[in-house]
Amino acid sequence: MATSVAFMALLLYFGSPSLTGVLAFDFMDQFATDWLSERVLGLHGFFVNDSALSLSRGWNAMHHMGGNSPWFPKTEGLVQTGLDLPPGCRIDQVHMISRHAERYPTVVAGVKMLELYQHLQKADVAFSGDLEFVNNWNFFMADPAQRFENLVATGGYAGTLQAFSTGVKLKTRYEHLLHQALARNETSFWASGSKRVIETAKYFGAGFFGIEWQDVSRLQILPETRDRGADTLTPGKTCRKYADNVDSYGHHYGARMLYEWRGQYLPPIIRRLEKQNPNVTFTQDHVYSMQELCGFETIAQGASAWCKVFTRDELESFEYARDLLHYYKSGPGNPYSKAMGMPWLNATAHLLKQGPEKAGPLYLSFVHDGDIIPMLSALDALPQDPNLPTSHVLGNRTWRTSDIVPMGGRIVFERLACDVGQHCWDRAEFGYPNHVYCTPPHDEYFVRLNVNDGIVALRGCEDGPGGSCSLERFMGRVEQRGRDAGSFSE
Ligand SMILES: *[C@@H]1O[C@H](CO)[C@@H](O)[C@H](O)[C@H]1NC(C)=O
Ligand SMILES: *[C@@H]1O[C@H](CO)[C@@H](O)[C@H](O)[C@H]1NC(C)=O
Ligand SMILES: *[C@@H]1O[C@H](CO)[C@@H](O)[C@H](O)[C@H]1NC(C)=O
Ligand SMILES: *[C@@H]1O[C@H](CO)[C@@H](O)[C@H](O)[C@H]1NC(C)=O
Ligand SMILES: *[C@@H]1O[C@H](CO)[C@@H](O)[C@H](O)[C@H]1NC(C)=O
Repeated sequence: MATSVAFMALLLYFGSPSLTGVLAFDFMDQFATDWLSERVLGLHGFFVNDSALSLSRGWNAMHHMGGNSPWFPKTEGLVQTGLDLPPGCRIDQVHMISRHAERYPTVVAGVKMLELYQHLQKADVAFSGDLEFVNNWNFFMADPAQRFENLVATGGYAGTLQAFSTGVKLKTRYEHLLHQALARNETSFWASGSKRVIETAKYFGAGFFGIEWQDVSRLQILPETRDRGADTLTPGKTCRKYADNVDSYGHHYGARMLYEWRGQYLPPIIRRLEKQNPNVTFTQDHVYSMQELCGFETIAQGASAWCKVFTRDELESFEYARDLLHYYKSGPGNPYSKAMGMPWLNATAHLLKQGPEKAGPLYLSFVHDGDIIPMLSALDALPQDPNLPTSHVLGNRTWRTSDIVPMGGRIVFERLACDVGQHCWDRAEFGYPNHVYCTPPHDEYFVRLNVNDGIVALRGCEDGPGGSCSLERFMGRVEQRGRDAGSFSE
């Protein structure tokens, strides 16, 4: 914790006062972590490959990990660079739904990594070729049972640090809304009831509300249990047909599509590694775990030698596997997805409509990736046509898990109040040029979609200022999608 606090202090110092807050943070995202870790914190060598998250130096493996990477800003498919508001507009209400911050692997993925580790140990050979480094490789944590599923709390990509600094970043951006919320004593924020999600919310709260956040705000924890029905942040647990896999399109659908594709792209990689190491055999699980280690070791340690085992094409095939998983598990490829995403979306749409005077200015929620993705399906925010095939990589797809839900991935709905300007006229024609009459100024309202600090248009509703969607049309879209989605209560 001392390191994290020192780190934050330095990050803040490093932000030059000549830059605006937002610019300074963007700048930090790109450069400051490496710079600080090497020069100030004495972590030289910690970031073995310092291009890990740099945006400026071309292709970057961490942008293709399908959710297994540290947070990074979205840069593809944006309507503008930066977050500047359209002229005459201000933000008067925000709704954020965020994934928990950087974590260790889940138990399911982590146990497969341990099985790989044992397999490599038992092989009892000198590895060569792309696996030569394995001769000196150790499992990347000492006490997996304590760490699996939980936030990473050490190093440059610590989830604790990211959650705190995200709180500071959003405070910088939305401080006027925070003041209004404090004045109204409406400072609840929400987390689903899982340890890593709750901890993310607490670190965020310290950055956003201040270190005494518990005195001024209330963290509401919603249990992730089935009895909540639609009153939940984790619809995948309460949507009965989905959780029980009553047909072949439930929760398991994504894994099935993932396995189909694994059968296509992994065998050639296995053949290469076995050719280089003739006395060892590898299964598809082994090689898939190696690819997962690339992201998870980077999160935990700053870099991973596993990333270098694979070509760019092979890592992009892995990314596609993760896209298939999420697209068919909780995304637009799953027939239950829209209905699961609708309760949060509908509630949010009605709060946007009510506006800050009635509903308050700030709604901040923390959940899992599988709870964010259905909301995007419900809104038809990232339409994907055709459905993703399992026979080959669909190169032109819009569905990219990597830049929607990296660790800490977040979607923010920003309500824009835009001054449409006064219409004025004088009475010069009647000889009174100084008698100027004006219509009263008034605001019109729009909704802007901020995905990981990139502004994205809602296809089919982007004619407002800066590619935003007028509030009326946004409401119409949500109502229409709600009718199409069918009822959650089924
Ligand atoms: C760092 O990684 C990039 C892309 O993964 C690679 O092109 C570069 O050669 C690596 N640099 C070092 C010093 O290993
Ligand atoms: C703020 O609201 C909470 C309940 O929502 C209440 O317990 C608390 O007393 C209120 N604080 C003030 C200063 O009004
Ligand atoms: C593979 O195993 C055989 C028999 O145990 C041994 O003779 C050979 O040297 C091994 N090859 C390598 C590359 O380790
Ligand atoms: C959407 O929310 C409104 C207001 O909370 C509610 O009246 C309506 O029934 C909801 N519609 C759906 C489809 O859930
Ligand atoms: C992407 O490619 C597929 C076939 O490869 C094609 O059917 C589809 O229309 C393309 N989509 C876009 C948006 O270009």
